[in-house]
Amino acid sequence: MPVVTVTRRLHFNAAHRVHNPALSDEENEHLFGKCNNPNWHGHNYILDVSVRGPVDDRTGYVLDLAALKRIAEERAVDRIDHKNFNLDVPFMRGVIPTSENIVVGIWRELEPAIRPGKLVKLVLWETPNNYVEYTGE
Ligand code: NI
Repeated sequence: MPVVTVTRRLHFNAAHRVHNPALSDEENEHLFGKCNNPNWHGHNYILDVSVRGPVDDRTGYVLDLAALKRIAEERAVDRIDHKNFNLDVPFMRGVIPTSENIVVGIWRELEPAIRPGKLVKLVLWETPNNYVEYTGE
C-alpha cells in the first residue's frame, strides 16, 4: 500500500512579546530586538500540518483533510487565534514564545489527536521570510 504525506494549511493571528525574565532589559532588547517590544506586537502566522500514512483503499485518502482541519482548529488554532501567547495560551505558560517554542507547543497538542496516519511535520511561518519546522524530535 503506498504511503503518502498530506498537508493542511491553517492561518491565525496572535500577539506576543519575546522576553526572558531571567535576563536584563538590555540583554532582552539586544537578543530579541523588535520582538521584545514591552507592549506586544502581532504576527500573521501560517501553520502547515503534515500527516503521513497509507492510502486507504476505500476512500483513497490518508485521512480526510476536512477532519484534519477540525482537529487542528480544535486543539490548536481556535485556542491561539487572536490571542496573546504570553497571557492567554495555557500550553505556552512559562515558555518564551518564539516560533521554535510555539511550534513545539502546537505539536504536543496535536500529535495525540491525529489519526489515521501520523503527524510527521509542522511548519510555522511567522513572517513571509521566516519559518520553523518541527518533526517531533
Ligand atoms: Ni514577534
